[in-house]
Amino acid sequence: MDVVFIGPPGAGKGTQAQRLCAKLGVPQIATGDMLRAARKAGTELGRKADEFMKLGALVPDEVVIGLVEERVQEPDAAPGFVLDGFPRTVPQAEILDKILAKLGRAIAHVVLLEVPDALILERITGRRVGETTGRIYHLKYDPPPSPDRGEGGERLLLREDDREDVVRPRLVNYSALTAPLVAWYGNKGLLRRVDGVGAVDDVTQAIFRAIGAR
Ligand code: AP5
Repeated sequence: MDVVFIGPPGAGKGTQAQRLCAKLGVPQIATGDMLRAARKAGTELGRKADEFMKLGALVPDEVVIGLVEERVQEPDAAPGFVLDGFPRTVPQAEILDKILAKLGRAIAHVVLLEVPDALILERITGRRVGETTGRIYHLKYDPPPSPDRGEGGERLLLREDDREDVVRPRLVNYSALTAPLVAWYGNKGLLRRVDGVGAVDDVTQAIFRAIGAR
């Protein structure tokens, strides 16, 4: 089953994608994580992405699309995948359809996590991410064992783009560039709206119901 998550920054896409992947036994393909890994490795692609990510802007299509095209063809993605952070624009969605069609596959569900802007900043500023596992915590809503250590004692990191001055342009870009995907996937009959407000476990159950995962 090929599933896409869309929703504003901090809506819980990564949190829920990790849970759905564990349930379905398929990989999470998170373009933000892939770009951050490239940036950390100091590759040319990572340096290019950094110019945009630190401003809260979208990385150009030619940087992101190649990453996704390669990743969906890896053997572990053969039974399915959960895309988190891609597509992020209608042109990216059109290209994704073409990539999947060439492979004889198609998206089954697009899960839209709906969270009002008023909650976003608190979610993002309280986020901590496990350095080794990538496990996502929230200091208040999904607390780690201690404020700077996750399960197993791993160090917790703050994302560079989680500062308030970078979150604002990310939200503006979501409304301008990504939100049009709601109508686009709605017209294709693929959109599954899920209320992203409430306990993390309750949201997970709502997603499972929305896509018929048992
Ligand atoms: P990316 O990493 O994809 O960031 P994003 O889309 O802005 O989303 P986030 O990762 O911030 O949030 P999330 O929805 O995953 O929320 P999370 O689960 O962590 O992209 C980063 C950058 O990379 C972009 O700005 C762009 O520059 C570039 N990029 C990436 N993909 C691109 C593309 N396709 N094209 C171009 N550029 C691209 O949850 C947030 C917090 O809330 C956590 O602390 C969590 O514990 C907590 N939380 C989760 N659920 C709940 C709940 N129900 N109640 C309370 N708290 C909750």
